Amino acid sequence: FRHLTLTDGDDGTLPRRRLIKISVIGAGNVGMAIAQTILTQDLADEIVLIDAVADKVRGEMLDLQHAAAFLPRVNIVSGTEVSLTRSSDLVIVTAGARQIPGETRLNLLQRNVSLFRKIVPAAAEASPESVLVIVSNPVDVLTYVAWKLSGFPASRVIGSGTNLDSSRFRFLLAEHLEVSAQDVQAYMVGEHGDSSVALWSSISVGGMPVLAHLQKNHRSAATAKKFDEAALEGIRRAVVGSAYEVIKLKGYTSWAIGYSVASIAWSLLRDQRRIHPVSVLAKGLVRGVPADRELFLSLPARLGRAGVLGVAAELVLTDEEERRLRISAETLWGYCHALGL
Ligand code: 2OP
Repeated sequence: FRHLTLTDGDDGTLPRRRLIKISVIGAGNVGMAIAQTILTQDLADEIVLIDAVADKVRGEMLDLQHAAAFLPRVNIVSGTEVSLTRSSDLVIVTAGARQIPGETRLNLLQRNVSLFRKIVPAAAEASPESVLVIVSNPVDVLTYVAWKLSGFPASRVIGSGTNLDSSRFRFLLAEHLEVSAQDVQAYMVGEHGDSSVALWSSISVGGMPVLAHLQKNHRSAATAKKFDEAALEGIRRAVVGSAYEVIKLKGYTSWAIGYSVASIAWSLLRDQRRIHPVSVLAKGLVRGVPADRELFLSLPARLGRAGVLGVAAELVLTDEEERRLRISAETLWGYCHALGL
């Protein structure tokens, strides 16, 4: 570009905005779905892919680099050493064993805790100012493990949690009501897994409370209640069964978790202050979870550049929702406590 001449004293370096570096540890189906979704968002200037299998991660890097002509310019780096993640703004951990068909997320715990002992301290040391987003399962317990092993403040350790369950929930409700899932406000909270809790009382569509709408379409209150319980419990069960179904059919889940984590990354790094149901340190925040019980579970949280900016602790819960959330909390506390960290 010869016509672009430099003027005296100008070394060609324009003032630049701070570059954003995102690292993804674990280049399996989930890690790669996250990396590829982040690439399409024009969020990162540098993406680092880390995996224990050198050929696999190099192959993934090359494959993404070959899309350069269709994407914003991004430096994509890969390797087996966690030290390559140095000075990341965001470190996303997806490494670990995954469920085989029929296996629960909690079954994976011991295998993945051992792996986290190798990965998390090294990642925290390489990027002491970063936000850690944990995706490996069981995500709530492993987010607790990552918090303990990193020494980070809880505001900078986040589990992808029920951000995905909530999307599944909104999808199913949207199908049921024939509207766009983006217009359905609905949250699943608690464990990302079998004991997740659907917050029926807070669902709204275009500002309209859904329970009231369903009731209006049923003549007697008794039929309405029956309809609600059957239809709504069916949807909750379908959300919980979603991952099992996909795993049975294709062996793993990847695309939806890719979008889910990319949306969390966007809210964090672009300081969006959006509310995401993600796994956060919940001690003392939920009725029935005393302040001395250290555990992570999903609650609606406001995300920005510094990590978790606030948690919606004052959820309006029905007695049944509160009972279920407490069971979720007790299940998770049992696992966290037993680790003795
Ligand atoms: C999912 O819910 C398996 O946790 C993974 O898709």
